[in-house]
Amino acid sequence: MRSIKDYTQSNRAAWNQIMPAHQKANKARLDAAFKDNNYSVISSPEIEEWNLLGFKNKDIAHLCCNNGIELMSLKNLGAGECVGFDICDVAIEEAKSRALASRNECQFVRTDVFAIPDEYNSKFDIAYITVGALGWIPDIKGFFEKVKALLKPSGTIFIYELHPVIEMLPTDDNHDVNPLQIIEPYFKKEPYAETTGLDYIGKTDQQTTTQYWFVWKISDIIMAVIEQGFNVSRFIEYSHDISESHNRNQTAGIEIPMSYILVAKSNAS
Ligand SMILES: C[S@@+](CC[C@H](N)C(=O)[O-])C[C@H]1O[C@@H](n2cnc3c(N)ncnc32)[C@H](O)[C@@H]1O
Repeated sequence: MRSIKDYTQSNRAAWNQIMPAHQKANKARLDAAFKDNNYSVISSPEIEEWNLLGFKNKDIAHLCCNNGIELMSLKNLGAGECVGFDICDVAIEEAKSRALASRNECQFVRTDVFAIPDEYNSKFDIAYITVGALGWIPDIKGFFEKVKALLKPSGTIFIYELHPVIEMLPTDDNHDVNPLQIIEPYFKKEPYAETTGLDYIGKTDQQTTTQYWFVWKISDIIMAVIEQGFNVSRFIEYSHDISESHNRNQTAGIEIPMSYILVAKSNAS
């Protein structure tokens, strides 16, 4: 059996290997777009929830931030101190250099989320987790323990994630399978171990070191949040795909849950 560190080191290597392919596909465009200090990649359902919560001048920690474009967008839209954390060396370099070039004041720190230095504890109003982050986390309870430590006592968790129902269905690469055929269990115990599929941006079939992807059920996530002393204040399921890998499911004619937003507030707030 592998340890959390083994999974994470392998995932770090895979992300470092794939990022140049992502950058080939989108870095120049993003560099140019963020020259505009009003630029944002935050989509409309998400911004509606941000506005409902209120995020202007709030300090935000973004866990698993990759190249930082979502956090830089929130900063452009009026967030307070913003710090992004990610284990991938190449992604954090990209985030830092784009933030510097576009005079965006987000900070970015290359670290495993489980090793975020204690100096960041109790610093943030909001912990932000978005689009394909939770699947990389080998220990969901430990993750939300860390999230709680980063937040001020009145802190809020904001999650916009892939719905685990799509994990049961074939990805777009499985051309020969009916997109609505259930091919995997919802109650998946072991992580998926894959060496392909990570260049969902450039759509190349580049191989990587083994990537370990964990399927957390909605109940795993809600319970992990509740057990850390948070009350769920918003939970919305959507039929749109944010994974970039399940377009066939989305257009197959039956609406299924493909993404969700969950907002949880500390019960000390
Ligand atoms: C799909 S990205 C999610 C970020 C962003 N929403 C995006 O779409 O680019 C997943 C990120 O999680 C990071 N990651 C995986 N395991 C991590 C860990 N243990 N600590 C910090 N970051 C991690 C990866 O390096 C990767 O950049």
